[in-house]
Amino acid sequence: MNISKIIDHKFWLAPLAGITDKAFRQICKENGVDVVVSEMVSADGIIYNKLKSLQYAEFTEYQKPYGIQIFGAKPKNMKKAVQVLIERKPYFFDINMGCPVKKVVKRGAGSALMRTPDLACRIVKEVKKTLVNLEIPLSVKFRAGWDANSINAVKFGKKMESCGADILCLHPRTRSQMYSGKSDWNLIKLLKEKVNIPVIGNGDIRSDNDINRIYSFTKCDSVMMGRGLIGKPWLIKEIKDGRKLSVKQKITIIRRHYDLTLENKGMRKGMLEMRKHLLSYTKGFRGAKKTRELIIHTEDKEEALKAIEELYQRDYENDR
Ligand SMILES: Cc1cc2nc3c(=O)[nH]c(=O)nc-3n(C[C@H](O)[C@H](O)[C@H](O)COP(=O)(O)O)c2cc1C
Repeated sequence: MNISKIIDHKFWLAPLAGITDKAFRQICKENGVDVVVSEMVSADGIIYNKLKSLQYAEFTEYQKPYGIQIFGAKPKNMKKAVQVLIERKPYFFDINMGCPVKKVVKRGAGSALMRTPDLACRIVKEVKKTLVNLEIPLSVKFRAGWDANSINAVKFGKKMESCGADILCLHPRTRSQMYSGKSDWNLIKLLKEKVNIPVIGNGDIRSDNDINRIYSFTKCDSVMMGRGLIGKPWLIKEIKDGRKLSVKQKITIIRRHYDLTLENKGMRKGMLEMRKHLLSYTKGFRGAKKTRELIIHTEDKEEALKAIEELYQRDYENDR
């Protein structure tokens, strides 16, 4: 199994439910991201409501090497879902053992699996039965632990390795923290010291400086970025090229994001879907209130793009 394509100092786009759909992944990939992962796909959904769930695992050739993330708590269903999803030709599969959302954990899936490591292990073993002959790697993405009193990331990661995981990805916050507080990169460092498989470092990476720090501090094999790319899908390109994109270049990227979303989801759904992204494109800018109000009310793509371009231009001139 050759995994160097996805683990040797690569930039991974984190799976982000509701954000990293086919269009967003394409945009990130075109702007420097090396490895993309689907939004989480329900294993039960694949079995009982195949068509709807399969939509989450649509990729373009260009998005290679891409992975599919599944979630669930029933080993047999996880295996069956993987057998269906193989038709999408993923480079790897990932099992979600970090999702903190109530709807997911009450079914025993996501981060709830960190409290049932034996079940988590059975899932990995069951899924591996299908993947091993196909030489498709399996990663497991998990958290620091359930809460501050039950931090078990290192022990859990070692167990997943012994059960057959090929790659580990750690977002070192507890389930109780959800997305608040700070990621504890020390856990990534400790995990890396204790396992013999690649470790992907994730959590609070926002800049070139963060990337350098997480590599040198934890010695992780690759980095995964999530929220840092929402509203800034060009960030990795800027980091790789060592220079900022111009306002025009950014607007071209946003326009392409918009067009791809309309292409994939249709006019009405696509336009509504793009509203949240357009709002993220205005995040962090002073004096953006008017632009945001316009985005919420307009159905006119050009009007929205023009307003964002003016916002970026004003910001650029203020900075000079
Ligand atoms: C809106 C949103 C959706 C997310 N969806 C998923 C998901 O589907 N699967 C998953 O493993 N993690 C999911 N996460 C967690 C991220 O993949 C990542 O681990 C977390 O945001 C920390 O990285 P960051 O600080 O770079 O954002 C989600 C996070 C956010 C904010």
